Amino acid sequence: MESARLLIARQRELQVLDACLTSARSGQATVALIRGESGIGKSRLAETLIEQARRSGVLVALGHCTPVSGGELPFGPFVEMLSQIAAAPDSPEEVAGTTWELLRTVLTVSGPSSGVASPDVGLGRSRLFTSVLWVLHHLGERQPVMAVVEDIHWADSSSLDLLNFLARTAGQERLLIVLTCRDDALARDPHTRRAIGNLSRADVSRDIHLKPLTANQVRQLLATSDVQLPATQHNKVIDLCDGNPFIALELAGTRRRAAGRRPIRTARGRGARAVHPARGPGELHRKHGRQQRGEPSPPH
Ligand SMILES: Nc1ncnc2c1ncn2[C@@H]1O[C@H](COP(=O)(O)OP(=O)(O)OP(=O)(O)O)[C@@H](O)[C@H]1O
Ligand SMILES: [Mg+2]
Repeated sequence: MESARLLIARQRELQVLDACLTSARSGQATVALIRGESGIGKSRLAETLIEQARRSGVLVALGHCTPVSGGELPFGPFVEMLSQIAAAPDSPEEVAGTTWELLRTVLTVSGPSSGVASPDVGLGRSRLFTSVLWVLHHLGERQPVMAVVEDIHWADSSSLDLLNFLARTAGQERLLIVLTCRDDALARDPHTRRAIGNLSRADVSRDIHLKPLTANQVRQLLATSDVQLPATQHNKVIDLCDGNPFIALELAGTRRRAAGRRPIRTARGRGARAVHPARGPGELHRKHGRQQRGEPSPPH
């Protein structure tokens, strides 16, 4: 995937997110829901916030929801986030003790299985949910926590329930939950749409809707991207991309290659794979998978 070095526009949205982080720091748990069509820049905005938050001493955990055929991956993004927390230098075992141990076992974060049944069939969900809250509480006593869950339009129902529980009970925790959602993908799934609707209506929630970039912003994007499309061709891309940065960058890349000039430089230098540096090849697979399932995908 093509990319641009600088974050273009989105300053107002970053300010809203920064205000959410300030609230979370001061003990007012907040949920920020970043919405918008595919390719509009939800992940890029979240990545920028993650960098800023990490620099300012926030503990960040990032989980992804992935589409799976024939069933669900219960608590998929939470398992991913708890693995990161477990791998952090200061072990949470000291802060959250036996509750952390329980979570580790139930969500199979690491270590040998203890034979405890999955939370869906055995252990009470309320106990599991309370344990997550308890661990977040103890982590938050040391440093503010930001949990980022990407692509919740693909979330499993257990994760959506847990997110809704946290949005309603985290109250005074030093916690910011950031969610990204491709809201056009919700049309086909009433259950997920309802769960995300509930989340966005929670008192602590802030909705951040990303609009298309203006023509000037797309021009800036092209001028600062790694694609190096000649400026004489910018207008054509601006006309075709509808303000969508993903489409703009892909079109620019296609035109640049068609021009048969020297190989495209990526952020990692000449000859590196054209993959978004912050995400790696998984994202390419996801976008490809989306096309195979007939879901909307930006034209090339
Ligand atoms: N404001 C921006 N400034 C610079 N580049 C941007 C901006 N917004 C998006 N991009 C670039 O556009 C491409 C698509 O953005 P991104 O992956 O964040 O979209 P998305 O909304 O998360 O899409 P999806 O719904 O498919 O996950 C990426 O290469 C990203 O770096
Ligand atoms: Mg994304």
